[in-house]
Amino acid sequence: MPLIMEIYVGQRLKRRCLKKLLIAIDGPAGSGKSTTAKLVAQKLGYIYVDTGAMYRAMTFKVLNSKISPASEAEVVRLAADSQITLSNDRGEFRVIMDGEDVTEEIRSEEVTKNVSLVSSYPGLRKIMVEKQREIGSRKGCVVDGRDIGTVVFPDADLKFFMMADIMERARRRQEELSASGAELPIVQVVRELKERDMKDSTRETSPLKKADNAVEIDTTNLTIDEQVKIILSYVNEAMVTSEEMSPTGPLDNGSFGERK
Ligand code: DC
Repeated sequence: MPLIMEIYVGQRLKRRCLKKLLIAIDGPAGSGKSTTAKLVAQKLGYIYVDTGAMYRAMTFKVLNSKISPASEAEVVRLAADSQITLSNDRGEFRVIMDGEDVTEEIRSEEVTKNVSLVSSYPGLRKIMVEKQREIGSRKGCVVDGRDIGTVVFPDADLKFFMMADIMERARRRQEELSASGAELPIVQVVRELKERDMKDSTRETSPLKKADNAVEIDTTNLTIDEQVKIILSYVNEAMVTSEEMSPTGPLDNGSFGERK
């Protein structure tokens, strides 16, 4: 069994408790962070928080309203009057905007094209960050985004910055689009990714940036399974005795995290 099990099977370790961690994973689109973060959260029995989905949900709402995405004041006003819920129901992740399930809609090309602009507004980010901190205050969360380790949770227990070669990221994104029925030439996917990288990393407020103390993972030649294992090995190291922890013992499914 993987290293993880040693926490439970070693006599000395058996007496220990598992601390609930807050894990921040940042990186550009196509770096593999969302898929990895979701699986890590599942293995640990943690909550997965996709902050990109929150900005996407807001962009979707803007596009479906009468206001222009270019009008910062109106976008912020709309955000203040919005209710976004991220639900994790038995491993299924759903995004609810004002009571409506928008999980699929927020992945559209139209939303992807406009999300960098909408998410660049400081007033909107303030509202989103407050909500993210509220969710993260419970601990036992894997939060992914662009500014999680730098701005939202600078004191996160573990921070990762995932990146990959642009061609590999474009190939992954193309595959994703193809799965949803959109066939785009690779040159166009590369161009759009570069544009989004540029906007996300050069905006004034909370740009995409590696936190100084984040572990950098280049996923160009890694499988998802390998990415998950790398993060879990750091999680293992970070698990220490703490009063806020749950009692240990072997888990029924051989994985680790919160006990059922
Ligand atoms: O992770 P994603 O590609 O679904 O994110 C969509 C956009 O949301 C991304 O281009 C920038 C923005 N974003 C952000 O500004 N801050 C975050 N913490 C997460 C996403």
